This record gives sequence, structure tokens and C-alpha cells, in this order.
Amino acid sequence: MKAETKALHTRIDIDGSDPVVTPIFQASAFQSTSPYFYTRNNNPNIAELEEVVRTLESTNFAIATTTGMSAITLVLSLLKHGETLVINKDIYGCSYKLMQQFTERIGVKLIISDLSIEENIDRLEKVDMVLFETPTNPFLKTIPISYVAEKVKANNKNALVVVDNTWASPLFQHPCEIGADISLHSATKYFSGHSDIMGGVILMDDEKLHQKVKDLRFYYGAILAPQSAWLLRRSLQTFGIRMRAHQKTTLVMRDFLETIPEIEKVYYPKLDEKQLNGYATLLFFDLKKDRVKHYPEFAKNLELFDTGTGMACVTSMIAQPYTGSHASMNSEEKESMGLKDSLIRLSFGLEDVEDLKNDLEKGFESLRKF
Ligand SMILES: Cc1ncc(COP(=O)(O)O)c(C=O)c1O
Repeated sequence: MKAETKALHTRIDIDGSDPVVTPIFQASAFQSTSPYFYTRNNNPNIAELEEVVRTLESTNFAIATTTGMSAITLVLSLLKHGETLVINKDIYGCSYKLMQQFTERIGVKLIISDLSIEENIDRLEKVDMVLFETPTNPFLKTIPISYVAEKVKANNKNALVVVDNTWASPLFQHPCEIGADISLHSATKYFSGHSDIMGGVILMDDEKLHQKVKDLRFYYGAILAPQSAWLLRRSLQTFGIRMRAHQKTTLVMRDFLETIPEIEKVYYPKLDEKQLNGYATLLFFDLKKDRVKHYPEFAKNLELFDTGTGMACVTSMIAQPYTGSHASMNSEEKESMGLKDSLIRLSFGLEDVEDLKNDLEKGFESLRKF
């Protein structure tokens, strides 16, 4: 049976009353006879969500957290004073800031490298954790997961390879099947899909690692609320169908954007049967230098693209990473990443693709007039 079919029918057992949809267990505590004793540890809605996500990404375990950032924080907390963390150069701005501040406080050595280049992976010495997104935010570069795992573990068999799989999604990439120890997600994005829930999920195969991270979630109090878990589970019922629609639109829009004279470059990740076997929703492009200052008017003139940092939603969005997703980084940090204000991000929703094209075409027409 396909993972998606199985995930649709995943339901936790609730004492024989057998509803076709699991209700929300709005309870913080359970009787001592229940397998769920306290919602900070577990709750039926969280358990069901975790079962669905782990099924979709084919891992043994899943751990749901309040946000994507808290998922990253829990994983970083596995590091100890004196250890070494390697991260990739282009990465979500808040993840970068968190890792910079966390490593400084705890006394962990932080190495920032461009892991999309194999020689840089070869150059890594003994490290304790390597954490990266693939495709990366914002340049959609791909990092070879199995190659990183092989190299890093050759120097330290206990090193943890952690992949932020948010942008690939479980439909197109399964990091733990190809060498990663941990895959994590901002569930706020594709899992929610409607810009109305925040959440995170951490996935892994190793039982001991699962217990360690689960304990951390319990002590940090970073578990997702039952209502958010219930909503996320509902959103995941349409995950596959949404993703395939996003994917179809994204391919058409990529070809369309390549014909626009005001665009210098369109970014799209390298697909590969063994790692990233599809892609959807987010595209980046560089506006030509002389048009950049008119971006705010351009964005405002669009009817179908909401502005803001959200993405992977049923409605389309437009954002400028320099002032949005990476605003927490200072200008030198953005420069060293190669991030300029000319870079624009589009997130395609489920609108009719011709309507999206027409809307953008009108926007570009107005940009020509300046
Ligand atoms: C790749 C990636 N990871 C993690 C996060 C953080 O997730 P959240 O906003 O759910 O905390 C984001 C947010 O945009 C992201 O883009």
C-alpha cells in the first residue's frame, strides 16, 4: 500500500467508540490507567499526527513540536560543550541566528561551509553534528545527503547528520533512507498548507535517539498543542494532492518566468532520482538591478500574491528574502551568503495557473513603465 493511502487511514485507537475522524483530546492530564499520562509528554492527537508523518516519510519515529524552530532547538540541544557543529552557508535566517547564538552560549564550535561543493565536504575533519537544508533557502542548491553522511561518519561514527527537509517535503525526499540520522520539518509550511497552524516535526529511525529527543521535548515543554495537531492531521489528508498541484503549477511558472525580460535569473533545484525526485511551490528569481527599487510597487500591484514571509499555502505569496525570511541577519552576514535585495521569492498556491501568469504579467508590465 502506498504511504499516502496508509496515512489517510491512520487513526489511533480510542476505546471502541470508533468515530471516522479522531476528535480533539483537549485534556492536559489522563487517568493513571491511560497510556497518555500528561499532554506535555504525549496526547492521542499528537500520537496520530506523528504516525501520519512518519508513514509519509517512511521513518520509524516522529516527534511533533510547537514550531519548526523548536524542532531545530531540540536537535541542537543534543550537542555538548566543546563539540563541533557544521552548517551550510545558505540557510533560513532564523536558523542561522539560532545556531550562531546557541553555539556561542554553549561553547560549541560553529563551522559554516558551502556543502553543495563536494571538496568542502571532503575537507571536513571530526565534527559532531552537520545540519543543512536541501534544497537550500534561498538559492535552492542541493546537498548530497549520503555523501555528507559517508564523509562525516568516516571521521566520527557518532556524528549526527541532520537535514531540514521542509522545502523538499516527504513527498519528494526521504533523508533518513539515504544516510541522515534526523530529518526535520517546519510543519507550518506544507503540512499545514493553509497558513493557519504553526508546528514542527522531527523524524528518525534510531530508537535511542528518538527517546533522547522525546525526553528533551518533555523537559523543554516543546510539544505541539492537541488542537494544532488535530488541524495538521486534517491538512495532511490533502498533502499529496496539494503537493502535486503545486508541482504542476511550479513547472509552468518556472518556464514562464524564464521568458520575462526584467528577470536576470530563475532558481530551481537540481532533481535526482536518488535524493530529490520532485519539487514544488517555491521559486526564486533575481530582478534586474535597475528594477529592484520598484519591487514594493510591483508586489503591491499583484492581485493574487499575498505579501509576507509565509509560503507553501493554498494561496500564492510573494516575498523579498533580504527584508523577510533573512531580515534577522545583518548586512555582512547576508552578503557573505550572497543574498541581495534583487532576490524575490514566489510561492505558488492552488489558483488556476493562467490566472497566476496573467497577474504576474500585469505586474511585470507595470514594472516596465518605471
Ligand atoms: C527551512 C525552514 N526551516 C525552519 C523554519 C522555521 O519554522 P517555523 O516558522 O515553523 O518555526 C523555516 C521557516 O520559514 C524554514 O523555512
